Amino acid sequence: MYEHCDKVLVSKEELAEMVKKLGKKISEDYAGKELVVIGVLRGAFIFMADLVRELTVPVKLDFLVAKSYSGTTTTGEVKILKDIDFSVEGKHVLIVEDIIDTGITLGYLKKLFALRNAASVAVCTAFDKPDRRLNEGLEVDYCGMTVPNEFVVGYGLDYNDYMRNIPELRIYDGE
Ligand code: IMP
Ligand code: MG
Repeated sequence: MYEHCDKVLVSKEELAEMVKKLGKKISEDYAGKELVVIGVLRGAFIFMADLVRELTVPVKLDFLVAKSYSGTTTTGEVKILKDIDFSVEGKHVLIVEDIIDTGITLGYLKKLFALRNAASVAVCTAFDKPDRRLNEGLEVDYCGMTVPNEFVVGYGLDYNDYMRNIPELRIYDGE
């Protein structure tokens, strides 16, 4: 279907196992509470669809679109292109991302929802590239897997907006 992505890093089975574990942990941590799950489009759509089906607490969900103008510093600017449609005041918020790279996007989003008076704000990412972090202070509450410093595609992650529909996580080795 696509070129330059023959190497499978995480199989479908491993992904399912990873999401199950995360879902169990999050459900335990939020037992007796309600969650507002907010997915960062577009990369998080597949992971989030899988994750929310593993949760055993009541869930409201929405999506947002954020664009980060990645510079070389932690002050990289982030803009919200599409916001969520309801208030998070007094709610427990879980932000869901596909992958954390510099951490600039998530650092910004965490602050944003704290300013909107959420009762709590946590972050859940499918993958993390800790070697690339610029935002050192970012606390990642839930992480499925750490990945090496390679460009990865599939399971929602794109190369120029293609390859999101590859069912596994693969390494892109073009260019
Ligand atoms: P950052 O953490 O603010 O630098 O940006 C994270 C975003 O960069 C993710 O949500 C992805 O959209 C994108 N990204 C970072 N690394 C990769 C990768 O290896 N493959 C695909 N997208 C990536
Ligand atoms: Mg992307």
